[in-house]
Amino acid sequence: MTDDVLRSLAPSRNLTDDEAYMANAAASRPGITREEVTDYFNKVGELYEEYANPQRYRGPVIAAQTMAEFFPENRHSKLILDVAAGTGFVGEELYKLGFKKLHCLDPSHKMLEAARRKNVYMKEFCCCVGHDRLPIEDDTYDCAVSCGGFCNAHIPTDGLHELARIVKPG
Ligand SMILES: C[S@@+](CC[C@H](N)C(=O)[O-])C[C@H]1O[C@@H](n2cnc3c(N)ncnc32)[C@H](O)[C@@H]1O
Repeated sequence: MTDDVLRSLAPSRNLTDDEAYMANAAASRPGITREEVTDYFNKVGELYEEYANPQRYRGPVIAAQTMAEFFPENRHSKLILDVAAGTGFVGEELYKLGFKKLHCLDPSHKMLEAARRKNVYMKEFCCCVGHDRLPIEDDTYDCAVSCGGFCNAHIPTDGLHELARIVKPG
């Protein structure tokens, strides 16, 4: 399945919306395991941006705008964790809106590599939410944000407890 997706994602090829949707759906198809999800994103890497480009996929823009509404002032001083950051679409949007203290987290080293090239994150964590304790102290972040992270075999709802632990109360 991943190989079919990779073949369809030749760089600069104009995907139809249906092809893009199929590529995206392959990462959360019924029965996929957590390991297969990470393997999928390690293979797809920055080709992810061929199908989930900002013209088609508005989630990151909407997530960043929502964050901006929560933090109308002093955005530059707020420490934010982008969870399931992927190639860094959300971080890019947050940065444009004035959030400058950004960390990212994702289990796929290939996605993190692409995210690093965006030059908007100060720190990265290659880990999986919801399975192990994150290597992050309690009450570290002003906020954690995730876009496209709560899909089948991605972050389980239980993972919210761990995210609540690392975000400051209030
Ligand atoms: C659909 S992409 C979303 C990427 C990015 N947030 C965006 O909106 O473009 C899903 C991402 O979730 C990551 N992911 C999957 N399971 C995860 C988990 N348990 N904890 C954290 N990230 C996870 C994948 O590696 C992948 O990069």
